[in-house]
Amino acid sequence: MADMPFKSEEDLRSFVQRYYQENVLNAAIACCYEDRKQEQMPGQCACYAPEQLKELPAELLASACCCGNPLKQAGLKPGESLLDLGCGTGLDLLLAASQLQPGGVAYGVDMNEVALERAEQYRRQLGLENVRFLQGIIEAVPLPSESIDVIISNCVINLVPDKERVLREAYRLLKPGGRLILADPVLEGELPPSLRREPRAWATCLAGALSAAAYRELLATVGFREIVIELAPRDWDWPSFVKQEERHRLEGHWLSASIRARKLSA
Ligand SMILES: C[S@@+](CC[C@H](N)C(=O)[O-])C[C@H]1O[C@@H](n2cnc3c(N)ncnc32)[C@H](O)[C@@H]1O
Repeated sequence: MADMPFKSEEDLRSFVQRYYQENVLNAAIACCYEDRKQEQMPGQCACYAPEQLKELPAELLASACCCGNPLKQAGLKPGESLLDLGCGTGLDLLLAASQLQPGGVAYGVDMNEVALERAEQYRRQLGLENVRFLQGIIEAVPLPSESIDVIISNCVINLVPDKERVLREAYRLLKPGGRLILADPVLEGELPPSLRREPRAWATCLAGALSAAAYRELLATVGFREIVIELAPRDWDWPSFVKQEERHRLEGHWLSASIRARKLSA
């Protein structure tokens, strides 16, 4: 944890937990950014087609905190089991649940109790019976090995102190042949030390972001194959604490990654 503003992994995780609890409690803060504008909410975000979102509660859209749309690449089929790592208030799961019917179940894990209470409230509002929310850390998910067909995660892995641990956990949970589909920011190049020392940079998906090459290597080390990483310019704004000169240095280096990988059948 050298040159980081946290004493331990637990300290970083607690900071991230508090940060997202406050965001959910204060809908005005919405996503990662205190100054996120209305037009950047997922209701207007290019990642999701507006017709997909029109049945969803406005409060859910306001509290979602995504940086891509992993469902686009998920190819979900009826009867499949889906797990969302760091599901927050449940946007992706609540969108996906009907595609899994009949017979499929969608699980969401998050350490944020407040977000999960909201997610459960939206689930009831939408009358979805095949969605289950589990409170806990995504490094140790309380589900059996080889029980899940598709794992998604949207803007979360970068926040986890030990990324290898969480990817190993995803590998354990997937059935042979199972798909992993992630949306996550990546950072190409060096983060200015001033931002590395800024706790909010870790909670706003900047300081903990891997490079695409490091992501690929970690996925391969854990055992994933058929790894595809596509990068696109990010469509979210700078957090307000990032200074003008830092924005200049990072422009074009903080990107939106769409990542796919598979656990091959034995
Ligand atoms: C940027 S938000 C994304 C939420 C959701 N995926 C979405 O698209 O709206 C990050 C979420 O990850 C959760 N999270 C971060 N680290 C976690 C961990 N180690 N275990 C469980 N949840 C975690 C936070 O509580 C928060 O809800």
